[in-house]
Amino acid sequence: MDNSCDWSLPPTKLDLAEDEIHLWRASLDLKKEALDRCSSILSQDEKVRASRFLFPHDRDHFVAARGILRELLGRYADDSPALLEFQYGERGKPALRVENGEPSVRFNLSHSRGLAVYAFARDRELGIDLEPIRPEFSAEDIAERHFSPQELEEWHRLTPGLRAEAFFLCWTRKEAYVKARGEGLQIPLASFSVTLTPGQPEILQSVDSTRWGLRSFQPAPGYAAALAAEGRDWRLVRWDWRP
Ligand SMILES: CC(C)(COP(=O)(O)OP(=O)(O)OC[C@H]1O[C@@H](n2cnc3c(N)ncnc32)[C@H](O)[C@@H]1OP(=O)(O)O)[C@@H](O)C(=O)NCCC(=O)NCCS
Repeated sequence: MDNSCDWSLPPTKLDLAEDEIHLWRASLDLKKEALDRCSSILSQDEKVRASRFLFPHDRDHFVAARGILRELLGRYADDSPALLEFQYGERGKPALRVENGEPSVRFNLSHSRGLAVYAFARDRELGIDLEPIRPEFSAEDIAERHFSPQELEEWHRLTPGLRAEAFFLCWTRKEAYVKARGEGLQIPLASFSVTLTPGQPEILQSVDSTRWGLRSFQPAPGYAAALAAEGRDWRLVRWDWRP
């Protein structure tokens, strides 16, 4: 996993080069003023979705995650955040709606426990996933059910002290891949393999593995995250979002 801490404050004008993927991390625990600003740029259907959350903090995190997405996309697409329109793939993957053809700016996001990560690229599909590393989490059952035989074998070879981190490295890499494909958990997770040993390179073995590059990174202490993106000719640039 790439543990480098080079998350910087962004410049006022954002340039997204063709060989770059911009990662953003953002806290979703916003003060009222920032949350109201996020809320004010949501579309009607997003407001309806927000109103359906049972718990206020889940609602607020959704509003913040969407508001920040709109603000960032507005900067990349050079459009007003409130006017952006989304279209959704068959399994719910959001993309920018454009009049003709495919949108140039692609994105994906993941959020958990008040932290969000976003990825933006030009003309390449991508998926991102984030999970808090929970050492107490009983991973054995889930690994048995969802890891491929190859992953299970690699996981069992590790000392118990490394298994929690390895589990979440594996899980986030797998989710990033299925999100990049837009299929989510409709793709059986055991039907493809990723490497999972901490400190070792990320390798994807799937029917279409030549199409994708895979990278793990740490957005904050105690979290694992991964990105899958088309091609291998890209480099990561990391930005910190602040209200
Ligand atoms: C995509 C999926 C793996 C996300 O899982 P998760 O870990 O709970 O959520 P994350 O925080 O990582 O990602 C959520 C974000 O991913 C994006 N997303 C949603 N569906 C997606 C898909 N199919 N592919 C890629 N990204 C997707 C959205 O931006 C979403 O944010 P939002 O909920 O605020 O709109 C999961 O929702 C899934 O498998 N969906 C497929 C849909 C499906 O088949 N559902 C059948 C159930 S009836």
